[in-house]
Amino acid sequence: MNYPAWDVAHIGSGWVIGIIAIFHVLISHFAVGGGLYLPIAERKALKEGRREWLNLLRKHSRFFLILTGVFGAVSGVGIWFAIGLANPEATSALIHNFVFAWAAEWVFFLVELSCAAVYYYTWDRVSPRFHLAVGWLYAAASLATLIIINGILTFMLTPGEAWLSAAGTGREASQFWPAFFNPVYWPSLFLRILVCLNLAGVWALASYSKIAKASDGLRAETLRWSARWIAPGFLLLPVFLAWFLWSLPEPRRALLELGVHTIGPGAFTQATRAALVVLVASAGVAGLVYLFAWKSPRDFGFSHAAAVLALAAAATGAGEYTRELLRKPYVVVRYMYSNGVRVQDAARFNREGFLTRSLWAAGAASLEKRGEAMFRGQCMACHTRKGYRSMRRLLAGRNEESIGNLLRTLHERKEDSPYRAFMPPLVGTEEEIAALKTYLAKLAAPSGGEEKPAVVKQIASQ
Ligand code: HEC
Repeated sequence: MNYPAWDVAHIGSGWVIGIIAIFHVLISHFAVGGGLYLPIAERKALKEGRREWLNLLRKHSRFFLILTGVFGAVSGVGIWFAIGLANPEATSALIHNFVFAWAAEWVFFLVELSCAAVYYYTWDRVSPRFHLAVGWLYAAASLATLIIINGILTFMLTPGEAWLSAAGTGREASQFWPAFFNPVYWPSLFLRILVCLNLAGVWALASYSKIAKASDGLRAETLRWSARWIAPGFLLLPVFLAWFLWSLPEPRRALLELGVHTIGPGAFTQATRAALVVLVASAGVAGLVYLFAWKSPRDFGFSHAAAVLALAAAATGAGEYTRELLRKPYVVVRYMYSNGVRVQDAARFNREGFLTRSLWAAGAASLEKRGEAMFRGQCMACHTRKGYRSMRRLLAGRNEESIGNLLRTLHERKEDSPYRAFMPPLVGTEEEIAALKTYLAKLAAPSGGEEKPAVVKQIASQ
């Protein structure tokens, strides 16, 4: 169960995680792709004795160090803060199940960040061979961080039968490897590596687009060389995406199809829309890079690079968003719902009460306060009162009785309930559900549950 420690108005705590995560994903994938880009480019430049290109790479590696070492590292810690506050139960479950994976992850982070710093500060101070070796070590360490985190992220989407059958028995650790190398581990890893290569190319374009037009030859050459990094992504992305979707269990894929059937008026079209954004934006990146960076590198300016970067950000962000949506209504599929309620605990909460174990709700004497505690504990993982997926908007026009019916539907969660696909069951005793009904009815009322100032009341009653 989650502590309602964090009540973020308008956007909800989920979007706080989302905003930090999209920013972080863009930078961290660049860290991995760029980690490969730098030594490969350096080796080529060394072999061909290209002094001016080496100078460029040195500048690029500074940009790289600041972006990944400062913004990447800080936003990574930011994700931990945000998930720890928004969903402590799920965060705790991930830490407990993957403690050694996390430990290894942090060791590789340390190696990665140290190498990035050594790499930048030792240009021309150590032998080219040694410098290149630091570059390769950086590349290997950053790839290792991706290989590890990918296991944990994909676990949340498809924990796999072996781990699920051990979940809650205390023997979870015996299923570490099947949980780690879960059904979508490989397609997801290859997809992410492609994204890394693409982002390395895209950021390099941004960096080289600022080269003075005077050194035209170099500019054109480096831009075209970097543009090639987009090609594998363009050619293989659809293949790996198809493999990824094909590896998903049926109920997950159904969330996408649900979107297709109901597109337009439907209740849950976001997953499909976000998946379409991934495809359109990726095609946009490929098109822009081909037309401008490849075909006419002389005209390629920073504004072109910024447009490519914005599209790449849209594609990456939409990709992560799709992955999150495919998990609904779970945070760890079939094990824990998005609101931190474990599937196996639902029956007990219905018997013994949901609020009975909540210190924060113990003092809530009034029905409405108890209802609010239910709302914060069970609904606010996905809804806000009046902002994103606003409860007021979704309940508009419903009176207390029809809200009661809706809550019963959520509570019983019958096989044919339309809400099953994207909402967890409402758990708790009859009394607690009645309290939630009272609270929601007040929230949905035109005044929105806000006490009107006495003057307004007076005018209204006249
Ligand atoms: C796992 C995320 C999640 C949780 C937790 C969740 N919901 Fe929802 N809910 C959704 C989504 C997604 C929709 C569809 C939203 C849309 O159409 O914009 C939705 C829609 C709704 C609707 C509109 C349904 C309709 O038929 O118009 C209501 C009412 C609602 N939720 C109430 C609740 C209540 C009450 C709770 C807490 C007991 C809750 N939800 C918990 C995800 C969730």
